Amino acid sequence: MQTELSRKLGVEHAVFGFTPFPAVAAAISRAGGFGVLGAVRYTAPGDLKRDLDWLDAHVGGRPYGLDVVMPAKKVEGVTEAEVEAMIPEAHRQFVRETLARYAVPELAEGEASGWRITGWMEQVARTQLDVAFDYPIRLLANALGSPPADVVARAHERDIRVAALAGSARHARKHQEAGIDIVVAQGYEAGGHTGEIATMVLTPEVVEAVDPLPVLAAGGIGSGQQVAAALALGAQGVWLGSIWLTTTEADLHAPALTRKLLAAGSGDTVRSRALTGKPARQLRTEWTDAWDDPAGPGTLPMPLQGLLVAEAVSRIQKYEVDPLLGTPVGQIVGRMNSERSVQAVLDDLTRGFERAVDRINRIAGRSGQS
Ligand SMILES: Cc1cc2nc3c(=O)[nH]c(=O)nc-3n(C[C@H](O)[C@H](O)[C@H](O)COP(=O)(O)O)c2cc1C
Repeated sequence: MQTELSRKLGVEHAVFGFTPFPAVAAAISRAGGFGVLGAVRYTAPGDLKRDLDWLDAHVGGRPYGLDVVMPAKKVEGVTEAEVEAMIPEAHRQFVRETLARYAVPELAEGEASGWRITGWMEQVARTQLDVAFDYPIRLLANALGSPPADVVARAHERDIRVAALAGSARHARKHQEAGIDIVVAQGYEAGGHTGEIATMVLTPEVVEAVDPLPVLAAGGIGSGQQVAAALALGAQGVWLGSIWLTTTEADLHAPALTRKLLAAGSGDTVRSRALTGKPARQLRTEWTDAWDDPAGPGTLPMPLQGLLVAEAVSRIQKYEVDPLLGTPVGQIVGRMNSERSVQAVLDDLTRGFERAVDRINRIAGRSGQS
């Protein structure tokens, strides 16, 4: 699974893996892919430094990258406390009532909420970058818009390629104008924040729109046949997020959640604003149903919704409250039916890719191996 881009980056397979877990990122790079660590959950620079130290020591000298979330629309000049004060009391009451209905226990006194995600506030993302630029990262990816010009310039000074996620050809062209090197065309099927265009339609549109920039296809990819399809559509590689959640290296901290993922079908996700205030695909649960119910107060815009539900999500996770327990995940969850190592996932992708190429060769009347 080699392309011009994978050769330039010095990786064996044009498979880029987004993951919030350092152990998964390291395993992806060691297995010949390109591991990218998601930084959004790191609110303390010391924690990111600790995990980058670990990652750097465990990638076996292979390239790896970092993903930050700098929204195009900034929240500037306000403190976290001031942002938090904007949350209406009716919404807080709705959270309390919903948790009470399911008898979700409180966190222990002084226990921090592990899900307090503020990495999408620009000042937090910038502290993450200050840490990350001290490491030999080879790729910096940004979700939710083009990174600011000074960040692109800092990355390029260090010979770091900059990637940005796009859900439409229009967004992709904006990234190109902002000097981005690689566009991740992320379709509607994907886990996490998504647009409304499916990967099959989006990928060739983006490839055409930003030519000659390399494009990675993302969203709904979990087999080698799908990798072959993405490359056939003109992508220079694939960007996978969901598939790693049920690898043995992932640490979801909730065995019940792993069980739910393994049991879920491809129709068991929903694109909901419940987690962050922007539409993000995730497991459909009674929690997402409550937020999406027109009888409820509705969700708040980012970053308010994320701050509002942070503690609740931590409590649901910690106590594994089954009906409410969820995570961002894409429609490919329907194929995630057994726990496997990252290496086993890469091996499976390679085998499936070879079978697809052989099949197409046979259809085209060509003999020979892929
Ligand atoms: C649990 C989870 C968390 C995610 N968080 C982020 C994130 O912080 N930043 C980002 O750029 N993308 C994030 N994504 C999206 C991935 O980068 C990727 O585009 C997506 O997972 C690809 O589609 P797939 O889920 O079908 O593989 C997340 C995806 C998942 C499943």
